[in-house]
Amino acid sequence: MQIGIIGLGYVGLPLAVAFAESGCEVVGLDVDRSKVEALNERRSYIEDVPSSALEPLGERLRATTSYEELAACDAVILCVPTPLSDSREPDLTYLVESGEALAQVLRSGQLVVLESTTYPGTTRDRLLPILEKSGLTAGSDFHLAFSPERIDPGRTDYTVKTTPKLVGGVTEASTERARELYAEICDTVIVLSTPEAAELAKLLENIFRSVNIALVNELAQLCDRLGIDVWEVIDAAASKPFGFMRFDPGPGMGGHCLPVDPFYLAFKARQHDFYPEFIELAGKVNQAQPSFCVERIERALNGVRKPVNGSRILILGVSYKGGVGDTRESPALKIIGRLQDLGAELSYHDSFVPELPGHGLASVDLDEALRDADVVAIVTAHPDVDYEAVVAKAPLVVDFRGITRGIEAENVIRL
Ligand SMILES: NC(=O)c1ccc[n+]([C@@H]2O[C@H](COP(=O)([O-])OP(=O)(O)OC[C@H]3O[C@@H](n4cnc5c(N)ncnc54)[C@H](O)[C@@H]3O)[C@@H](O)[C@H]2O)c1
Repeated sequence: MQIGIIGLGYVGLPLAVAFAESGCEVVGLDVDRSKVEALNERRSYIEDVPSSALEPLGERLRATTSYEELAACDAVILCVPTPLSDSREPDLTYLVESGEALAQVLRSGQLVVLESTTYPGTTRDRLLPILEKSGLTAGSDFHLAFSPERIDPGRTDYTVKTTPKLVGGVTEASTERARELYAEICDTVIVLSTPEAAELAKLLENIFRSVNIALVNELAQLCDRLGIDVWEVIDAAASKPFGFMRFDPGPGMGGHCLPVDPFYLAFKARQHDFYPEFIELAGKVNQAQPSFCVERIERALNGVRKPVNGSRILILGVSYKGGVGDTRESPALKIIGRLQDLGAELSYHDSFVPELPGHGLASVDLDEALRDADVVAIVTAHPDVDYEAVVAKAPLVVDFRGITRGIEAENVIRL
């Protein structure tokens, strides 16, 4: 089977590798030439895919910028970004552009699958008419389905193969073709009755996380007022073997999915005169968490008679989660921006993020920075940092991830 993957990012590249490893011939397409060149030179730019995994794939994986090369594929999977516009509404530009380019080369018998996260109705109402500009009819001449990507970058216990895959096609035949496709690489494929159900299922998964994270973030703020250790409370509640699922508080939500997806559903809901207050409240609480963290750093400095203005503040970890270099929507960026505005002498260390050009910063040497800092704020906990050494060397540590739990020290303040 020959598979085309459009968009070779966090979602598309691992998927391309999974299909190539299963024996399929994969053509990866991206508009970013540097990614195409890197892949053809067998250099990975995604943490979850080591370059050593690309070498054995030989000719089974090649990358291109030319849509014409997709004409020979049996199936084409779209993994392009679905961000928000400046006015926080769904921005389907990448989807429309890639769909239009695909329509130029679409041929009879092909299966097209959308994996990008989006609101219910996108596959049928937006992508289908674009692809039918080819002159072909969906469901008879070509097949069309939605199958959400459920990847969690940095996670190793569940993979593309072991995470059940949802599929929903615009016709039964499209659903069946999509089921057969993913059965090549996934242990379990779950069939849904429509693409809309599959689109909404993906949003539910992410909104579920957003709402629960908002709940524990709010609890962390309350515990701060009450003088109760939020981590102890969550550990205790999580000891219940049923009816409770653990979520940890933190500096706020980041990444491409959790801060973005609720807006996709809210947009769709508004079109139907429905205002999902619960979902929007969760977004509001999570968006406010970086400001709470800045206030926590201010109070920590105040305790040692120092103002933020002129203090040397080291931010430890700036990506949105541990073990990855993705800084999209990272709360660290908001915390850094606010502290810079307040006049802090700010530096950061993150071995996954060499520079933050938007803030005029580059990652500094950890040992040196620990010696110089007035306060160290742990915003993202990476696996390569020795936090015992951080606590031992830094005069003052504010920990927003609970990673220093278990370290007895007077100079640590936890969320
Ligand atoms: N990153 C995640 O953890 C994750 C998890 C599940 C779902 N998703 C969803 O998957 C989709 C892709 O996310 P991602 O994180 O892989 O994004 P990404 O930015 O890492 O990758 C997208 C790629 O698409 C390319 N692209 C953009 N326009 C194109 C076009 N017209 N033709 C060809 N290529 C084009 C970009 O150059 C980029 O390399 C989004 O809808 C996202 O919400 C992401």
